[in-house]
Amino acid sequence: MSENYVYITTPIYYPNDKPHLGHAYTTVLADITARWFSLLGYNVFFLTGTDEHGLKLQREAEKRGMQPKAFVDMMSEVFKDYWRKLNIGYSRFIRTTDPDHEELVKRVVEELWKKGFVYKGIYRGWYCSGCEKFYSEKEYVVVDGKPYCPIHQRPLEYIEEETYFLKLSQFKDYMLKVLREGNHVFPKNYADEVASKIELEGLQDLSIARPKERVSWGIELPFDKRFTIYVWIDALLNYLTGIGYGADMERFEKFWRGSIQFIGKDILWFHTAVWFTLLAMLGIPPPRKLVVHGYLTVRGQKMGKSLGNVVSIDDMLARYGSADAVRFIIARIANFEKDSDISWDIYDSIYSGDLVNNYGNLVRRVTALALKIFNGEVEKDVDESHASVVRQLVQKAIESYNEVRINDATKIAMDIAHETNAYLNREAPWAKESPVKTVYTALESVRLVTLLLHPVMPTTTKQILDALGVEIEKGLNQFNFGYIEKYRVKEAPIPFKKLPKQETQAQ
Ligand code: MSP
Repeated sequence: MSENYVYITTPIYYPNDKPHLGHAYTTVLADITARWFSLLGYNVFFLTGTDEHGLKLQREAEKRGMQPKAFVDMMSEVFKDYWRKLNIGYSRFIRTTDPDHEELVKRVVEELWKKGFVYKGIYRGWYCSGCEKFYSEKEYVVVDGKPYCPIHQRPLEYIEEETYFLKLSQFKDYMLKVLREGNHVFPKNYADEVASKIELEGLQDLSIARPKERVSWGIELPFDKRFTIYVWIDALLNYLTGIGYGADMERFEKFWRGSIQFIGKDILWFHTAVWFTLLAMLGIPPPRKLVVHGYLTVRGQKMGKSLGNVVSIDDMLARYGSADAVRFIIARIANFEKDSDISWDIYDSIYSGDLVNNYGNLVRRVTALALKIFNGEVEKDVDESHASVVRQLVQKAIESYNEVRINDATKIAMDIAHETNAYLNREAPWAKESPVKTVYTALESVRLVTLLLHPVMPTTTKQILDALGVEIEKGLNQFNFGYIEKYRVKEAPIPFKKLPKQETQAQ
């Protein structure tokens, strides 16, 4: 990655309700990535926030009898609270009502206008305020003869109005080249999906203005004050505001070269066809990596407020007892290619199998041995047979993390724990006369699993490393087997409590 700078973003979420496990999914994966690169010593900027303008929020505030600003002020705090509960270490929480953002949006739209990328026209079409987008005939579904939103499964509204368009069509060849030949979208099949859609349907110009009498809650269009700016244009530009585009271009460019943007596949079109084009119009290359994940589903259907099948973050925290455990489960189920069906049975077995019985048990066993046999003081003595197995796995985990394959990295960390438990069973150091080699080797293995899990479970792993008497450093050296000359072990906490027997709710 260029010059040691990494810029991580999540989508900015609509604060029309509190966040649920679907929002936590993206945000936790982004946070783990930010913490990973920070652990390696990169200069990391991690942006998340709320998308506060537009019809959806305007209507939600109306429904609650509140002014939109008062409503989003309240709800953005709710988001921050949940991110605190999940230990999300963002560098900035951006709100699209932040003055620097509103100013940037106006400036950019004015620039696009001056460059001739914007023109006046009439829009006729079917709109979903849930998605804040128009649906073409090919995209909507027909229920009882009426056009329906395929995501929210409710009728679309017919809208015909004066507007301004952004000339996306002019960038069709550019987009196809970037998607087909570039390496910006991960996994690559999402790039192919968008490219095929463009080849089939073309790249239509995008309506970027809304008449104020319909959508008053938005940023004013600088060159025609009868309009507000379309919420998606406003929202996408948050990624530029977040790292000071326009204010400090040198800094912006450094971070932009190391940008990793996380999204769910629901907003893939906006983050490729619209976002990459918008960037190109401003002379900015696409992000270094757009990481796209599948949906969390409930019985095969996307989980979301509108379908009323939401699993709450509170339920997860209550069931597994800590932010770390919830973060671990998210890391373990992370799936970029496929949707992931929510299941308490699977989550319980991850918690019990991986955290309680495998990793937690290993930590207790090894620290107890070190204390009992050596009073905690264990000198360096490497057993090469086990060390070479662990070294290879650590290497693979590092590569996985660097490629943002978080689920693989977490799984490999569990493999190291598993191998080390088996190593202890085989070597039975408790029955040996001088087991220093086995115990040191096991301690090193525990340390490395713990370091690898640090981005996923920052609190618990810190406590465990403290018990091992090890400081967390920045950089890759600490991942070498045999890095610690002498251990001074203290008693470790019981990191994960057994789940109480509970009825598994069928999900
Ligand atoms: N405000 C827009 C994004 C603008 S970004 C410039 C938006 N907000 S949203 O609140 O609807 O959040 C969508 C994102 O939330 C998804 O892209 C995904 O990251 C996350 N998810 C919401 N529900 C989800 C699932 N059921 N499964 C997986 N991710 C989910 O769209």
